[in-house]
Amino acid sequence: MSQPGYSDKVMDHFMNPRNVGVIEDPDGYGKVGNPTCGDVMEMFIRVKDDRIEEIKFRTFGCGAAIATSSMTTEMALGKTVEEGLKITRDEVGRELGGLPPNKMHCSNLAADALHMALEDYLNKAAVRKG
Ligand code: FES
Repeated sequence: MSQPGYSDKVMDHFMNPRNVGVIEDPDGYGKVGNPTCGDVMEMFIRVKDDRIEEIKFRTFGCGAAIATSSMTTEMALGKTVEEGLKITRDEVGRELGGLPPNKMHCSNLAADALHMALEDYLNKAAVRKG
């Protein structure tokens, strides 16, 4: 199924989103809202030996937000915390084969929520170390 302006990859991740759900008691949690449209994105991560071993998202967002979140979780899974922090909004858009210009803001949610979850993890780790 294709939609004007959306790549097949976007449609695939929209129709079959990966890593949807929540992680109970996550090691890191991020929640961001999109001021442009009011949609909300949550990202949950579990970290082991400095690697993202599990990641889930939940969104009240549009199709592009679902597709970019799904792609972001795939890109982040298995990466180190530092590598995850380097995943940019633009990279997510590129991996999806681009997004229509009026939907580029939707991809911001996923990358921002991932970074927030990783920073939450780092803050908690710093507290644990004292
Ligand atoms: Fe709200 Fe895309 S329109 S995230």
